[in-house]
Amino acid sequence: MKNIKTTLTAFALTMTSLGVSAATSNIDIEAGKPGAKIPDTMYGLFFEDINFAGDGGLYAEMLINRSFEFPQTLYGWKTFGKTEIRNDGPFERNPHYVRLNPAGHRVKYSGLDNTGFFSVAVNGGEEYRFSTWARTPDGKPAKIRVELVDPAADEESVAIASKTIDITSKEWTKHTAILRPSRDIKEGGVLRIFLVKPDETPVDLEHVSLFPVNTWRGHENGLRRDLAQALADIKPGVFRFPGGCIVEGTEFGDRYQWKNTVGPVENRPLNLNRWQFEFPHRFYPDYYQSNGLGFYEYFLLSEEIGATPLPVLNVGIVCQYENPGESALVPMDSLQQYIDDAVDLVEFANGATDTKWGALRAEMGHPEPFGLKYLAIGNEQWGPGYPERLAPFVKALREKHPEIKIVGSSGPYPDGDDFDYLWKEMRKLDVDLVDEHYYRNEDWFANGATRYDKYPRKGPKVFAGEYACHGKNHKKFNHYNASLMEAAFMTGLERNADVVEMATYAPLFAHEKGWQWRPDLIWYDNLDSHLTSSYFVQQLYSVNKGTNVLKTTLDGQPAAGLEGQNGIYASTVWDSDKNEYIVKVANISGEPQTLNLNFKKLPKKVKLTTLTTTLMSAPSDKMARYYDYQDLKTTEQAIGDNGKYTVEIPAESFAVYKFK
Ligand code: AHR
Repeated sequence: MKNIKTTLTAFALTMTSLGVSAATSNIDIEAGKPGAKIPDTMYGLFFEDINFAGDGGLYAEMLINRSFEFPQTLYGWKTFGKTEIRNDGPFERNPHYVRLNPAGHRVKYSGLDNTGFFSVAVNGGEEYRFSTWARTPDGKPAKIRVELVDPAADEESVAIASKTIDITSKEWTKHTAILRPSRDIKEGGVLRIFLVKPDETPVDLEHVSLFPVNTWRGHENGLRRDLAQALADIKPGVFRFPGGCIVEGTEFGDRYQWKNTVGPVENRPLNLNRWQFEFPHRFYPDYYQSNGLGFYEYFLLSEEIGATPLPVLNVGIVCQYENPGESALVPMDSLQQYIDDAVDLVEFANGATDTKWGALRAEMGHPEPFGLKYLAIGNEQWGPGYPERLAPFVKALREKHPEIKIVGSSGPYPDGDDFDYLWKEMRKLDVDLVDEHYYRNEDWFANGATRYDKYPRKGPKVFAGEYACHGKNHKKFNHYNASLMEAAFMTGLERNADVVEMATYAPLFAHEKGWQWRPDLIWYDNLDSHLTSSYFVQQLYSVNKGTNVLKTTLDGQPAAGLEGQNGIYASTVWDSDKNEYIVKVANISGEPQTLNLNFKKLPKKVKLTTLTTTLMSAPSDKMARYYDYQDLKTTEQAIGDNGKYTVEIPAESFAVYKFK
C-alpha cells in the first residue's frame, strides 16, 4: 500500500504544484463502429484445490479421511473402545475400513469420532445426510448410533442430533440417515459413531460420509451451495480446473490423474495434495485430495454455472520448482500414457455413449456430451523439455480431435527469457492459446494496461490463466487497492478482446483456517463465505462484458493510466443483445475527476435514455484487510441524447457506466 499511496500522493502534489485542475478527462468512444467481438469465454474462473478449496471447501463432504486411506490410517478419527483397521474392504482402490468390536462390557462402547475439516460445523435445523457402507461380519444383527456432538455444549446433552441404524447384512451395504441438529455448532463439533448396547457383535464401516442435504443443485456427491452460487453469480465464461501446480505433482505418482477422479466415489483413490507442505510455515499434514470432487463434477459444475470447461492436464513434467533439471521430465518413450489421458479425456467429455469413456460419463449420469472445446496441456513449465513433450500431444489431438483448441503455457512469469522462448515455441507448435501467469504488485498492474496493445494479432491467442495483484505492503491480504489495480489493468484485457480470449483470476478459494496462498477471490469458514472486492471486480467485468469492443481513447491514446492521463483507465463495449453501451473506468488517483464521455458517431437512430452507474469506491478504512466488500452502489438517471455526458468519478474508484 505504501508504494501506491506514495505514488498517488506524489501525483496529487505534482498536479497541485503544476496547477493542473484535478482533473477533467475527455474520453472519446467510437460508438458507431463496433470492433472486436468479446469472446464468450471472458471472464472466467480458475479452480485449484489449494487453501482447502476442494476437500474442506467447495466439495461439501464434511468428514476428513472418510475412507481410512490417509497414510496414517486414522488421521482425523479418534477411536474409543475396541476398534481395528482392516484392509480387505469392498473398494479395491480404497481397501481400508474400520471394525467396531464389542467393548467387552454391557455399559461400555466402541466407536469413533471424526473431527471434520477444522471441526464439524452445522447449522441448527438444517438437514445433513450421513452415509456409510457397513456389514455385520458374523451375520448377527447389530445397531450403530450416529451423532452430531458438540463437546463444548453446556446443555444437557452433547449430542445435538442422533440416529440409530440397523446393520443386518453380512454383505457390504450402503446405509444413510438424515441428521437434523437442534442447534448450531460453529466450532469443535464431531461426528460420532458407536455400537449400540448390547454390542455383542462387531460392525464394519467403510466410506463414512456426511454432507449437507442442501448442496448446490441438490447433488448428493455435491458442492457447497453458497460457494457454487458465488461462482454462478460471476456468470463466468470459462472454468479452468483442476490446477495449477496440482496438475504437476511433487512426484510423478502424485500428479493429478483425471482417470482416478471418475466413477463411483467410494473407489476413487486418495491423492496427496502438494499444497500440504508447499509452504512450511503453512504446513497442513492432513491436506489430501479425496477425488470426490473429480472431473465429472468439474464438467457438471461448468455446465451448471454456464462456463466453458477448460481442463488442464500434465504434459509429462512434474513440478519444475521441486524437481530440478531433467529429473522433472518423463522420458519421451514413456509419454504415451499421458497423451492417451488427453485423448481419452475428450472422449469422456464429448464421446458417444457407446465409447469406453463416453459410456462412463453416461453411467455417472450425463449421457449428453459436456461440450469440451479447450484443453490445456501443461501448467507452469519452462525450458526445451516442454515444447518437446507438448509436440506429440498436439499431433495426437490434431489428428484425433481437431475440434479441440489447445492451450500451451508460457511458464510461471509474464516476461523474461523463458517467457519469450516459450511464446516462440508455442507459435511454432501452432497452439491455439498461450497461458500467461502474473502475480505482480500494484505498480505492475498499474503500468500493465497496455500490455496486449502490442501483441501480434495473428497466431495463438492469450489466456491470462492466473493473475492477481499482490499488494506489496499488506502481506498479500485481500485489499481494496489491489482490486482497483486489477480493475484498471483489466481495461487492457477488454480493449484487446481480439487477442485475449480468456482471463481467470487466481486463486479462487481460501478456507480461513487452512489457507496457503493469498490473496484469493472468495474466503470462507465451514459455514459462511465472504466475497472480496476482487470478486466484485471480476463480476463487474463479467456481467457487463458486452458483445463488441468500442475504441476508447483519452486525448487520442488508449486510456491506460499513461503519462498525463491522471490515473484514468477506460474501456468500452457495446452490448448488441441489451442495446447498451458500457463504459468501465478506473480512477487510481487520489483525486476525484470529471469525465467527459463523448460518444462519437453515435448512430442517428440511437437515443441514449438511461445512465446506470455502478460504483466501487475505496472504503474509509483503507488499510483494513477485509472481504465482504459491500461498498458497491448502483444509481440510475434519465439522460438526454446528445452523445456527450459528464460524470464525476471519485478518487480511487472503479465505475461501470451503462448507457441504454
Ligand atoms: O494459483 C496458485 C499457484 O500459482 C498455481 O498452482 C500455480 O500454477 C501458480 O504458481
